[in-house]
Amino acid sequence: MRKNVVIIGGGPSGLLLSRLLSIDGIDNIVLEKQSEEHVMGRIRAGVLESGTIEMLKKAGVSDRLEKEGFNHDGIQLSFKNHGFRINLKQLTNKHVTVYGQTEVTKDLYSKIKKENGDIINNAEDVLPQDVHTDAPFVTFKKDGVEKKIKCDLVAGCDGFHGISRTIIPKAIIKSFERKYPFGWLGILSETPPVSEELIYANHGNGFALASMRNENLSRYYIQTPLNEKIENWTDQKFWDELKKRLPTEAADTIVTGSSIEKSIAPLRSFVCEPMSWKKLFLVGDAAHIVPPTGAKGLNLAVSDVYYLHDALKKYYQSQTNEGLNKYSYNALSRVWKAIRFSWWMTTTFHKFPEQSSFDQRIQDSEIEYLENSVASQKVLAENYVGLPY
Ligand code: APR
Ligand code: PHB
Repeated sequence: MRKNVVIIGGGPSGLLLSRLLSIDGIDNIVLEKQSEEHVMGRIRAGVLESGTIEMLKKAGVSDRLEKEGFNHDGIQLSFKNHGFRINLKQLTNKHVTVYGQTEVTKDLYSKIKKENGDIINNAEDVLPQDVHTDAPFVTFKKDGVEKKIKCDLVAGCDGFHGISRTIIPKAIIKSFERKYPFGWLGILSETPPVSEELIYANHGNGFALASMRNENLSRYYIQTPLNEKIENWTDQKFWDELKKRLPTEAADTIVTGSSIEKSIAPLRSFVCEPMSWKKLFLVGDAAHIVPPTGAKGLNLAVSDVYYLHDALKKYYQSQTNEGLNKYSYNALSRVWKAIRFSWWMTTTFHKFPEQSSFDQRIQDSEIEYLENSVASQKVLAENYVGLPY
């Protein structure tokens, strides 16, 4: 078999790239390690920037999103149980849209299938080969049978634990990483969200976030120590701790119920450079990870797809390599800004175990400054709604 582009990984990056390439008549195939049910079952943040919405529109998968997504013109911040609002709309003339990442993935999957796009699920031992030559190919196993696909280029959209990044020689690739000394304990509950807008709370006990999926599905998180065991957290204990950390008005009105999902995730920032090597191009979590505090993970994956799709279109339609040569540079310059913003949100809203009294005062004044300075709010707002591509 031969394809123009082999896409490794069928998460949001791989699916969106596949769809956009197919629209332009660029032949491609997605090789996904997991089953379709597994991919659809992953619960992840769903705050979409307007640039992300535009890309999903371009891919023809925005109908449900436009009907079911919630446009938010602001976010709530809270400090020591006192809440205040960042008016995103007024500060940037933009809003964000709350729509689960799981739903984005479902919409992409069903559109690709409807348009007869190629996705192979349960592809085992996927391996990009000879990507440093003009004749790259990808091998994998399906139902125990060895397969080989020749191609022009390989897109590594296989997430942080994927194979693609490991193909780049150690002498060429450089990694940058920060691991945070805490995790997020998250629950999903079939209860109405406590607030119409997301609440990001800094509290003496640690960070908390009130988010949502729809009118009767809420997503809440609290910061916990890294080694915390999920078994130690009954629903009641979670709600009690969450209430302590939210602004007083929210804590007084929150509707609690049993959780339908509960998990702990570590927080990390990670970037690898370059994001391409010869005929291999890394996209999304395969090249970078952000802590969820700024809700940038999916949005960054989409901006990578924007740069790579644009470069591939020029490669196939105008026979120019220029966009592909600049892909890593263009993607990274936006990636690093989102890495900085997510690090800043994380640093400003969490309690660090080793935080000194000096660090504490700096954090206090950062948030007080944010509450009272339009300039400071504007910096947060323009990053939160998403920097331009
Ligand atoms: N072969 C084939 N597929 C693989 C392999 C492999 N060796 N390794 C991983 N995969 C698949 C995973 O099963 C997953 O479906 O690649 C996909 C990668 O998807 P994501 O991890 O969702 O990464 P990405 O598509 O870049 O999406 C980024 O998703 O993880 C969130 O926070 C992240 O919001 C961001 C967005
Ligand atoms: C979520 O709804 O899961 C969510 C929202 C905003 C974030 C992180 C997670 O910053």
